[in-house]
Amino acid sequence: MCGIIGYIGNKQAMPILIKGLRRLEYRGYDSAGIAVCEKNPAGSEICRVRSIGKIDMLADKLAEVTLNGTVGIAHTRWATHGGVTEENAHPHVAQDGKLALVHNGIIENYRELKEHLPDVTFTSDTDSEVLAHLIAKHYQKDTGTDKDLRVAVEKALSHVRGTYGIVVMHKDHPDCLIAARMGSPIVIGIADDGHYIASDPTPILAYTKNMIFLDDGEVAEMHPDKMKIRDLKAHEITKCVEQIEWNDEQAEKQGFPHFMLKEIYDQPTVFQDAIRGRYNLHEGTSFLGGLNMTDDEMRSINRVILIACGTASHAAMIGKYAFERLAGIPTEVDVASEFRYRDPIIDGRTLVFGISQSGETADTIAALREAKRKGAFVRGVVNAVGSTIARETDGGSYMHAGPELSVASTKAYTNMIAILLLYALQFGRLKRVTTATGQRMLHALRDIPEKMKMILDQSEQIKQIAIKYKAYPNFFFLGRGINYPVAMEGSLKLKEITYIHSEAYPGGEMKHGPIALLSDQFPIFAIMTRDQLYDKMRSNIEEARARNAKVILVATQGDEQARELADDIMYVPDTMELLEPLLNTIPLQLFAYHTAVALGRDVDRPRNLAKSVTVE
Ligand code: AGP
Repeated sequence: MCGIIGYIGNKQAMPILIKGLRRLEYRGYDSAGIAVCEKNPAGSEICRVRSIGKIDMLADKLAEVTLNGTVGIAHTRWATHGGVTEENAHPHVAQDGKLALVHNGIIENYRELKEHLPDVTFTSDTDSEVLAHLIAKHYQKDTGTDKDLRVAVEKALSHVRGTYGIVVMHKDHPDCLIAARMGSPIVIGIADDGHYIASDPTPILAYTKNMIFLDDGEVAEMHPDKMKIRDLKAHEITKCVEQIEWNDEQAEKQGFPHFMLKEIYDQPTVFQDAIRGRYNLHEGTSFLGGLNMTDDEMRSINRVILIACGTASHAAMIGKYAFERLAGIPTEVDVASEFRYRDPIIDGRTLVFGISQSGETADTIAALREAKRKGAFVRGVVNAVGSTIARETDGGSYMHAGPELSVASTKAYTNMIAILLLYALQFGRLKRVTTATGQRMLHALRDIPEKMKMILDQSEQIKQIAIKYKAYPNFFFLGRGINYPVAMEGSLKLKEITYIHSEAYPGGEMKHGPIALLSDQFPIFAIMTRDQLYDKMRSNIEEARARNAKVILVATQGDEQARELADDIMYVPDTMELLEPLLNTIPLQLFAYHTAVALGRDVDRPRNLAKSVTVE
C-alpha cells in the first residue's frame, strides 16, 4: 500500500521527509512526492515536488530546489486508481494551491464526489485528488474570519465512502497538520522537536518510540508543541501513548516476524478492498468496470479460458467452478507455459483472462499475446497497476491486494478468487442467476472477512500441529470438487517454503495408485468441509486411515464426527460452497508458514524462487 510521512516541529522538514520516504521503500511503490509549507515575508506557500520511479529520482529533483519549512508531508504511491504518472503522484494540491494532501486507501465514491465539484479542473485520474478539492471546497465555504481546517476536513470526510489515512496541510495554517484515519493506519510519533505522522512506525522510529495509533473515525490536529485528537462525534479524546520497541526490520513487518505472516493476516482487510464498490446488494449483482465489454458482448461469450501460473493457476481453477456454476459458460484453466504450445480453440466468442499478481510473468504474457493474436477478448486480473499484463490486455480488474512482498503468494491469491467470483456473478446475472441467488452470494461474501479472522485466531493451535509434523518428508494434500484446487495451493505453499515434498490429489484419485505410498510416515492433509462431496471425502479418508496414514483434517465448525477420522483437526466456519476456498486455504497457509519457521527456513525468500518469474 502507499506510504505516508509528515512532520511538524522546529526542524527543517525536507530532510526528515526524504529520509522517511526511504524508510517506506520496503512497502513497494512506483512514484513519490513531497510538499513543504514554506514561510516567507509575503506569507506561507505550499511548495511541491513529485516524481515517478525511485526516491533517488525525487531526491535529484529536490537537489535543484530549496524547500525551507518546518511543516511538510510526503508520500510513496502504489498505484490503485490511475496509472504511474507524475500527475497521479501525491501530494495532491487543491485548485487554489493552498491545500496539500496525502492519502492511503480507496475512496469508493470518488466519481460521485467529482460531480459535486463541477468547477474543479482535475489534473489526475486518482481518487485521492478528489479529496483534496473536496476539503478545500468546505474550507472556502467557512465564512468565519478564522477558518477551521480541521472542521473542513471532518465535513469533507463525512461525504466519503471507502478507506483513508490522510494528512492535510494548508498555507493559511502553517503551524498545523490534520490527520484522519478510516481503515488505513495513521501513526503519530511524539518527540521533543515536534510531531511525526506516518502510515506505520518504520519512518518514525529514528526519532521517537512514543507513538499514538489513530483508530477509525479519529482526527488529529497537530501543532509543533501540542496536539488534539477527536473522535467521530468531534469529542476530544485522550489516546494512550505506546512505547514501540521494534527495530526497523520489525517495523517494516508491523510487528510480524515475516512478511508472509503479515500478508496472511492482511487477507480480511485486502479482501474487502477487492470487493469494495464492485457489487450491488439490492440487485444481487456485481459490476467490475474494467471489463470493457457490452452486455451483448458478454452474452456472446461461449468459452472462457483462465491463464495463469503457480498459485494464480490455483485461483483460476476456483474461477472455473464459479464461471461454470453461475454463468453456465464452459471454462478451461491453462497454465500459461502449456497454453502457448497446445492448439487452443479460440475465436471471437472466447474470453481469456490472464491472472497474475505481478503482471510481469513471462509465460502468462506470452500466452495472452497468443490469445489476442487469435482474436479472443483478453482481460487481466492483476495486482500491480501499470504492469505489462495490465497494459497489454484490453481491460480487466486490479485486485487491490497491496504490495505482496513475500515470495509465497497468499493475499493476492485470495483477492484473485474474489475478483473471479465477482466476474462469474456479473456474467451469471446476465444469464441464469436470479436476484435472490446473487444477493445470497453477496451477503456470504461480505461475511468472509470476519470468518477469516476466526481462522487466523487459531494460528497458535495450527503452529503446534505444524511442529508435530515438521519432520515428515512427504505429504499428500487431498480435496474434492472446489477444494481440490485448495489442496493444490496448500501443497505448493508447503513445498515452496519448507522444501518438504508434497503432492495434491483429488480425493477420489487416491485408490487409482497413489494410495500405494501410504504408511505411517506419509501423512495426509485433507479438506473435508460440509459440502456436496462430504461423504465421498469421508470414504477417501477412511481408506487412507486403513493404511495407517496420519490424517490432518480441515473440517467445518461443529462437525464433531470429523474428530473420529483425524489425528489433528482445524475447524473453519461454514460458508457457500463456491466461497469455501477463501476460508479453507488459510489453515493451509498457516500450516506451511509455521512448518517453515519450525524448520528454520528463509520464509520470505525461499531458495531457488523469485517473486516474479519474468523469464520463460
Ligand atoms: C506463489 O506462491 C509462487 N510464488 C508462484 O507460483 C506465483 O504464484 C507464480 O509465479 C505466478 O506469479 P504471478 O501471479 O505474479 O503471475
